[in-house]
Amino acid sequence: MQRITFTRPDDWHVHLRDGDEMRTVVADTARRFARAIIMPNLTPPVTTTKMAMAYRSRILAALPKRTKFEPLMTLFLTGKTGPQEIVKAKQSGFVHGVKYYPAGATTHSDSGVTDLNKCFGALEEMQKLDMPLLVHGEVTNPDVDMFDREKVFIERVLSQITQRYPRLRIVFEHITTREAVEYVTSAPDNIAATITVHHLLLNRNAMFSGGLCPHHYCLPVLKRELHRQALIKAATSGNPKFFLGSDSAPHTKNAKQAGCGCAGIYTAHAAIELYTEAFEQAGALDKLEAFASFHGGNFYRLPRNTDKITLARRSWKVPRTLRFGKESLVPLRAGEVVGWQLV
Ligand code: DOR
Ligand code: ZN
Repeated sequence: MQRITFTRPDDWHVHLRDGDEMRTVVADTARRFARAIIMPNLTPPVTTTKMAMAYRSRILAALPKRTKFEPLMTLFLTGKTGPQEIVKAKQSGFVHGVKYYPAGATTHSDSGVTDLNKCFGALEEMQKLDMPLLVHGEVTNPDVDMFDREKVFIERVLSQITQRYPRLRIVFEHITTREAVEYVTSAPDNIAATITVHHLLLNRNAMFSGGLCPHHYCLPVLKRELHRQALIKAATSGNPKFFLGSDSAPHTKNAKQAGCGCAGIYTAHAAIELYTEAFEQAGALDKLEAFASFHGGNFYRLPRNTDKITLARRSWKVPRTLRFGKESLVPLRAGEVVGWQLV
């Protein structure tokens, strides 16, 4: 197959950042995707509907001319998020989820949740109003091994939330383990998951091949090959619980190549092209459209996109760096080749 054409996809998890930085990356996402769920971990985080409205306007203003792209906003959940804020979010029509970051789990998550009990009011209202909860599923306890944090989160936190709020719609974001695949697969229909393209293409060896590779460091961290295989199987299964969420997360080159480098991999410059590679490698190109363009919209109860995109089998070289605000970033595959190109 030399070309594939399918319904324009959506990205159900992306970090666009803000200001100058956003202006230099938003076009990468908007060129490929019709809509995207925008992560709220700015500094300060997007904790209110009012802040989400202002952020949404900044995103729209940063789009290249004549670009049609719909940012689907989210709120950052804290112990102070009350039920009234959930009501406002629901009424806004532009907030589509509330993001749960365990405090300190990842980039700009310090004001995340420290005590689940403090969130019960908000979660109760979310269940009532059918507002999805998007979870960063990792515990942060220093005694838990880095590679076990997702598995332990399922046991200690996620199971608690689902028991208390059995009808709450939950997206288990960027799952990385066989345990998460099994959990989501056997859970009721109100529990779904996003899968990133880097977790489909890479296992944890990628962080250490030929030396320490900070540009392959993200959270949740890359896992063993057996987990990557489980993710590939889930993504290509046709199961509507699994859908595309790139988790493209730009950081400056200097912030990544530092004594203590930031977590996050930039994939927006080639997101759908790289997913196409992953599905092709798995012999499942016929499953790509549903994963990328149907399942997420169905879960979020949004209409299907009507226009199409075409990808050609054509190799192109990814630049070594891309502009990122006043600085630069190193994208996934920097200086290397991608086998599919957006037409
Ligand atoms: O690798 C990551 N980067 N994981 C996250 O959860 C956050 C993200 C970021 O904002 O940089
Ligand atoms: Zn993320």
